[in-house]
Amino acid sequence: MSKSILVTGGTKGIGKAIIQRFAQEGFDIFTCSRHQKDLEELTASIKKDFPTIKLYSKVADLSQKEEVNALAAAVKEKFVPDVLVNNAGVFLPGAIHEEPEGNFELMMQTNLYSAYYLTREFTGAMIERKSGHIFSMGSIAGLTAYANGGSYAISKWAMLGMTKCLRQELLPYGIKVTSVMPGATLTASWEGVDIPEERFMKASDVAESVWGAYNLSPQSVVEEIVIRPQLGDL
Ligand SMILES: NC(=O)c1ccc[n+]([C@@H]2O[C@H](COP(=O)([O-])OP(=O)(O)OC[C@H]3O[C@@H](n4cnc5c(N)ncnc54)[C@H](OP(=O)(O)O)[C@@H]3O)[C@@H](O)[C@H]2O)c1
Repeated sequence: MSKSILVTGGTKGIGKAIIQRFAQEGFDIFTCSRHQKDLEELTASIKKDFPTIKLYSKVADLSQKEEVNALAAAVKEKFVPDVLVNNAGVFLPGAIHEEPEGNFELMMQTNLYSAYYLTREFTGAMIERKSGHIFSMGSIAGLTAYANGGSYAISKWAMLGMTKCLRQELLPYGIKVTSVMPGATLTASWEGVDIPEERFMKASDVAESVWGAYNLSPQSVVEEIVIRPQLGDL
């Protein structure tokens, strides 16, 4: 039976690169985003490049708890994922003392709460099966404080905390838990910024490290992936 992966926010950037990398390895895939058209385009491109891969998708706004739950229900009709990648996230730069009202709630709901709710939907079945690998997309903004990190940094710091707790909770059940903390990666999140392309990491490099961390023997787990542009943070 083929293995399966659920990647949230798979139509762009890092999520899309992870989908492409795991498609290469023969995984069945489930993903989501807020835009049907982008999901259709992703489906067509995966079908073209990997004709035997099954890709399922659902429109979901993960900032809404009911939509996270609806996504989980749709996934369960297909499979309990071997790999869950809590990737969807939004980045609105700002400083805590002056960022617009609502930024905090939006980023906590999208970046953190969605991962909490979705993970809880699958841990029961993973524990029963005694296998699974949960990746959570943090950021170097959740490791090092910098001005203009604002609520984004808070959400990513919390993501790291949640992932560390999960790691301890799930270790007796053969379930691996990994925090992924990339630095600047060239994706839609950086659209319009006037910085040379070579200064960023490629999303495919982040995807490769996720694959590498997944592809170990059962007795080892990569707890944290910290990956930065060769020339350092932006
Ligand atoms: N790029 C970087 O430099 C960088 C660095 C460190 C960490 N990260 C983290 O890596 C993850 C992916 O980032 P990225 O740069 O690849 O982002 P991206 O290119 O903007 O793509 C984000 C993906 O998430 C989806 N998404 C966003 N909000 C959503 C919502 N409310 N509900 C459902 N899907 C949603 C987007 O689709 P729709 O917009 O159509 O919904 C898209 O598929 C994020 O958690 C981000 O914080 C990125």
